[in-house]
Amino acid sequence: MCGIVGYIGFRKADQVVISSLKRLEYRGYDSWGIAVKHNNKIMLVKRVGAISEDKMHEMAEGNIGIGHTRWATHGKPSEFNAHPHTDCSGEIAVVHNGIISNFQSLKEELEKKGHKFKSETDTEVISHLIEEFYRGDLKDAVSKTIDVLRGSYAIVVMHARKEELVAVRYKSPLVLGIGDEEWIIASDVPAILDYTSRVIYLEDGDVVSLTKEGFEIWKGNERVERKIETIPWSIEDAEKGGYDHFMLKEIHETPRVIEDTLFEYISEGVDIDVSFSAGISEIIFIACGTSYHASLVGKYLIEKLTGIPARVEFASEFIYNQPPMSRSLVISITQSGETADTLEAMRIAKKHGARVLAIVNVLGSTATRIADHVLYTRAGPEISVAATKSFIAQLVILYLIALKLSRLSRSEIERLAEELRVMPELVRKVLEQEGKIEQIAGKLAGYENMMYIGRGIGVPIAMEGALKMKEISYIHAEAYPAGELKHGPFALLGKNTPVIASLVPDETYEIMLSNIKEVKARESLVIAVADEHDSEIEKYVDFVIRVPKTDSIFTAITHSVALQLLAYYTARERGCEIDKPRNLAKSVTVE
Ligand code: G6P
Repeated sequence: MCGIVGYIGFRKADQVVISSLKRLEYRGYDSWGIAVKHNNKIMLVKRVGAISEDKMHEMAEGNIGIGHTRWATHGKPSEFNAHPHTDCSGEIAVVHNGIISNFQSLKEELEKKGHKFKSETDTEVISHLIEEFYRGDLKDAVSKTIDVLRGSYAIVVMHARKEELVAVRYKSPLVLGIGDEEWIIASDVPAILDYTSRVIYLEDGDVVSLTKEGFEIWKGNERVERKIETIPWSIEDAEKGGYDHFMLKEIHETPRVIEDTLFEYISEGVDIDVSFSAGISEIIFIACGTSYHASLVGKYLIEKLTGIPARVEFASEFIYNQPPMSRSLVISITQSGETADTLEAMRIAKKHGARVLAIVNVLGSTATRIADHVLYTRAGPEISVAATKSFIAQLVILYLIALKLSRLSRSEIERLAEELRVMPELVRKVLEQEGKIEQIAGKLAGYENMMYIGRGIGVPIAMEGALKMKEISYIHAEAYPAGELKHGPFALLGKNTPVIASLVPDETYEIMLSNIKEVKARESLVIAVADEHDSEIEKYVDFVIRVPKTDSIFTAITHSVALQLLAYYTARERGCEIDKPRNLAKSVTVE
């Protein structure tokens, strides 16, 4: 996701800003830019692609500067869309993280007043608004600007004729680094650590004015004090946000990812545009790996909520199966947008005249260019090979599509949409179970085989749970519909094979209890993932991982996050490499 940096002090600002932006590269970006103040002018450099220092000689000696790495949301990666954005006079420069949700109406108003826009971004309205409000006091103009902004933002602003930076944060992180006669402000700690380890984590609504003399933090009309903290991490630790592995960091980012993805497609009601579904007779999902498991959840939701026939194909098998028809909607799910088998299946679908919708995390990836329609997940860059937060973001999009196409009553749809809105909170509650899950993982780490079981929506949950376990802990983990155990897998059960059961509070619950009894009779250790209010389950199993109550269809989110943590802590207990499992790649670009 985007990264921002601002510097004021005694060093050459271009060098500080560039080196700090490089520290944010791990977040992923497609373009970048910096602005430095020199001789009462703003010098700008913007580029698509990786950070380089080719034009830096143009930056001269200024020691006030801002910079940005962009992960495109509004508008494709291009020099025009890269930050910093300026106003009409070219004297105000702005970098921004987040989304301005009312930018369209603001832009129209500003255009009526004669402002000319150079980019497709939501950010550019900020520089023009500041220009509108500016009467010589930059902090005042920024404060007036944020009064009219809606959405989320971390913003840093500079003015060609001011020895000052002004920054503001609302629902998007911003950290102020306090050095010796120099100050550096950034979206993330790694950008700061080369200069100082003393920081202030700004709070929502904080407006900071930085000059060469010092800094002031304001909230509305009041000056506020914030605690200075000392960062105890190394740079490498800091990139992982203090977590031991990217996988754990990414699991912990899930609530924010759900919020960001919902923010894009849900406001008063479910706003996702499903015009791609007009006149279709069936839906075929194609995907690989974790995205395949998201597809299985998608099929379940589509059939349950909409009645449209749906099937799921491994992308690599698509060519051997019943081809799509012109009235088929093919939904291709891919985090990277670059998986060779998925891309090939999309091309085949198009050859047959089918409509192709891609659900993708990486903007501008090949899948987005093949597809007729694209819906983006807002998971941000995912570095750990094992997909976690991107899987949950895929599910969120699938819930939105299924709800939008649903034939349920309006009140029922609203009820479910409301439950989806509180999902970030519920996932936070699952994350609070981490200590308990770690303890249970400690009991599992010594086994070499495991069985995951479920029924209904519990089946794809079990399959994804088992995939996470096998790929990072190297334990052989299989997943089965609980009803299938008797037809073979029972032969494998016993003391050496623990069973992980997903108990969904719906029509499958009672029969799952019977299946668990059968498993216990074979002396397997049984771990259940179950509702927090379920008082029955403890009598049947050895350990329970509790998840907050929600409608059964959303257990794919709550249970999966719990099973991701279970796999993580089991792998960790076994001393596995976790972020880069042996023989696996994040993006599989060969068939
Ligand atoms: C690889 C990754 C998996 C991922 C799969 C599909 O195997 O290791 O985490 O689920 O590819 O990737 P995609 O980018 O198409 O979702």
